[in-house]
Amino acid sequence: MAKPLLILFGTVTGNAEICAERAADAARARGYDVTIESMASTEPEVLTQFPTALLTTSTYGDGDPPDGTEAFYEAVVHSKRVLFTRLRYSVLALGDSCYDQFCKCGKDYDDALERLGGTRLYPRADCDTDYDDGADRWIEGVFAALEEERALLAA
Ligand SMILES: Cc1cc2nc3c(=O)[nH]c(=O)nc-3n(C[C@H](O)[C@H](O)[C@H](O)COP(=O)(O)O)c2cc1C
Repeated sequence: MAKPLLILFGTVTGNAEICAERAADAARARGYDVTIESMASTEPEVLTQFPTALLTTSTYGDGDPPDGTEAFYEAVVHSKRVLFTRLRYSVLALGDSCYDQFCKCGKDYDDALERLGGTRLYPRADCDTDYDDGADRWIEGVFAALEEERALLAA
């Protein structure tokens, strides 16, 4: 059975992309058909074309989205129109706890996708600058949740 999976990342210096690539590797190893894209070069409607999506993003400025992803962020977070009722998703938020708006961009996506009808398949992880372990735990948790769900459906 096909297992399509969308992975989107928003990054400036590459950390969120590294995490997205790690998630993609983990997914491929489990037989998922992975599409991985930058939020800077895709449209929010892509989220209506996949049953399952993982989002990884950093935060900049004073709680702002990474450079180049502003249009994607605005369209999702302030959407009153596009609905994601068939989407199951999870968010990995990268940030730095020195900032008041810690991981705000990832939090905003997580809230918006739920408000727009999506189902959170695994809780958001908020990672500080030493994000390695947190990102790995999130990836493991996401795929454990997905496999558990598939086992229930197959039973
Ligand atoms: C100028 C600047 C502003 C930042 N602003 C925030 C912020 O408001 N909130 C936050 O949690 N992290 C903030 N960060 C930290 C980044 O989100 C963090 O370093 C992240 O790991 C970068 O990931 P990336 O390489 O995917 O862009 C900021 C970093 C820089 C350099």
